[in-house]
Amino acid sequence: SDNLVILGIETSCDDTAAAVVRSNGEILSQVVSSQADLLARYGGVAPKMAEEAHAQVIDNVVQEALDKANVKELDLSAVAVTIGPGLSLCLREEVHDACYFLVHIMVNGTRLAISFYGPAYLSSFSMASLALSGGHNLLILARDLGQYVQLGTTIDDAIGEAYDKTAKWLGLDLRRSGGPAVEELAREGDAESVKFSVPMKQHKDCNFSYAGLKTQVRLAIESRNVSTEIPISSASSEDRSSRADIAASFQRVAVLHLEERCERAVEWALKIEPSIKYLVVSGGVASNQYVRARLNQVVKKKGLELVCPPPSLCTDNGVMIAWTGIEHFRVGRFDPPPPADEAEDTI
Ligand code: KG4
Repeated sequence: SDNLVILGIETSCDDTAAAVVRSNGEILSQVVSSQADLLARYGGVAPKMAEEAHAQVIDNVVQEALDKANVKELDLSAVAVTIGPGLSLCLREEVHDACYFLVHIMVNGTRLAISFYGPAYLSSFSMASLALSGGHNLLILARDLGQYVQLGTTIDDAIGEAYDKTAKWLGLDLRRSGGPAVEELAREGDAESVKFSVPMKQHKDCNFSYAGLKTQVRLAIESRNVSTEIPISSASSEDRSSRADIAASFQRVAVLHLEERCERAVEWALKIEPSIKYLVVSGGVASNQYVRARLNQVVKKKGLELVCPPPSLCTDNGVMIAWTGIEHFRVGRFDPPPPADEAEDTI
C-alpha cells in the first residue's frame, strides 16, 4: 500500500484548500482559495458567511487540485478532510469517495514536520507540538500516531485572534490577515513603551489566555487617543510611531506568554517522554519571525530543537490533511463519513 495518492481538503476556517500528495512525500498539487477580501470587509470570520464562500468554491478548488496533479478521482487512494476544530463544512459537503479520514487539524504540524524534514525526524515519532492559529492554541506531546497528550490549550482567545484585533484597532491594512501587519509595524516601535501585563502569570500550567491582553491593548489605544478611524497609511508620523509602540509592546507580551507556556510544556513533555528532541510549531502565527526567534531560545535552553514547517505549510492547506490521511491509511485507520445532519460548527 505504499504508492498512495491522497486528496486532502481543508475548510476549517477562512481558506478553502485542497492538495494531492503521494505517499513518497511528493506534493502533486496545492490549491488555496482565500476569503481574505471577505474578511477585510467584515473584520473577521463569520461562520455562516465563510461556509457559503467555501460552498461556492469547493468544487472548483478540488477540481483544480486534481487537474494540476493530473489525477482523476478514481486514481485516488482516499480523501482526507478536516473535522475540526472550526467550521464543519466538510462534514456536510459531499466529498465523493470510498474512504474518508477525519483529520483533527491541530495535530498536523507534527506529522507534517516529521514527513517533510527527512529521516532524522522519522527515527523518533515522539515530539512536542505547538499549534498557533487564529482560533486555537494547543500544546501537545505526540507519543505516536494518534497518541497525543494535551499539555495546554486556549481558555479564551487564541494568539492569532489577539494579533487580528490589534491590527484592526490600530487601523492596519486588513487585506491580508492582521498578524503580518502587526509584525511589520512592531519593527518600528519600542516594545518597552507600553506596560502590558503577561497573562496567567499566577497559573503554573500550560494553558493560554489572550482575552485580557486584547482588552489591555484596546484600553491603551483609547487612552492614547490613536484614532483608529484613520488608516495607518494616512496617519501622521507621530501617530504612526505611537501605533508602532503599541504593536511592539503587544507583540513582546503576547510572545512572552508563549515563551512561558512553552518552557513549562517542554519540561512536562520531557518528564513523560525523555527521548523527545523537537518542538514543532505550526499554524499561521508560526510564520512570525519574532515568535520563532524567541521560541527558539526557550527550546534550545531545554536542549530541544525548534522545527517550523515553511509558511505555506503553516497556514490552512490541503497538504497536511492529505499527509495525515496517508499516515492513517498506512496503519489501516479510517473512519466512515458521519451523517451530514450531525455536523456541528465548533468555531
Ligand atoms: O493557522 P491559520 O492560517 O488559520 C486559522 O486560524 O485557521 O492562522 C491564521 C492566524 C491569523 O490570526 C493571522 O493573523 C495569524 O495566523 N498570522 C500571524 C502571522 N501570519 C499569520 N500572526 C502573527 N504574525 C504573523 N506573521
